[in-house]
Amino acid sequence: MFEAVVRDGVVLKPLETWHAGEFAEHMGRARDHIRPWVGPTFVTDTVDGARATLQRYAIATANDGARIYGLWDEGKIVGGVMFVAFDPIWGICEVGCWLQPDAVGGGLITRSVELLMEWAFVERGMSRVEWRCRTDNDRSVAVAQRLGMRSDGVLRSSWVYDEKRYDKEVFSILRAEWTSTRPVEAQ
Ligand SMILES: CC(C)(COP(=O)(O)OP(=O)(O)OC[C@H]1O[C@@H](n2cnc3c(N)ncnc32)[C@H](O)[C@@H]1OP(=O)(O)O)[C@@H](O)C(=O)NCCC(=O)NCCS
Repeated sequence: MFEAVVRDGVVLKPLETWHAGEFAEHMGRARDHIRPWVGPTFVTDTVDGARATLQRYAIATANDGARIYGLWDEGKIVGGVMFVAFDPIWGICEVGCWLQPDAVGGGLITRSVELLMEWAFVERGMSRVEWRCRTDNDRSVAVAQRLGMRSDGVLRSSWVYDEKRYDKEVFSILRAEWTSTRPVEAQ
């Protein structure tokens, strides 16, 4: 899998089980910020919990399924992106993301998801990339829109946080839509 420079000093590369210690330290910086918006099993409090997350992804990756990538800024994890789901048979995958608060607002996620989409469409021949988030997650919705995704609709009352239910929106971009946004020489 790829390793890419996202901008000066920031590298995107696979987040693996042996990163559990530094991933847990990062979770300490990110936890409160991401908790309302990501799946509950992703928000861990211990190194063992962080390792369990990375092991789940490692097993899925070995089966050509989900994958997770960290963003290292000057050697420290500040966030990441993942294929939450990856189904090469159906040609459909779902991308997710997170950042610790001091990394928000710099374009890291938009660029990183562009790299994942390029790999999914070009290298893996996927047909559809999805993005799912709470309808009130303005920054996440903005990323999907910035990437040229369209709303497929709202899954009503399908997200639970702090004993309240929220709506979730599904965005997607299809291969032909993505290709039409590429420079001709890159197609
Ligand atoms: C969702 C989340 C990762 C988005 O982070 P983000 O920093 O807004 O997204 P990006 O990294 O793409 O940065 C975009 C911002 O950087 C700015 N930016 C600067 N340079 C940029 C560049 N080269 N390209 C794109 N945007 C750039 C944009 O203007 C935008 O800022 P603005 O909204 O204030 O105008 C972040 O809000 C987060 O961690 N939220 C909690 C967890 C979460 O919601 N995860 C997603 C679950 S679905």
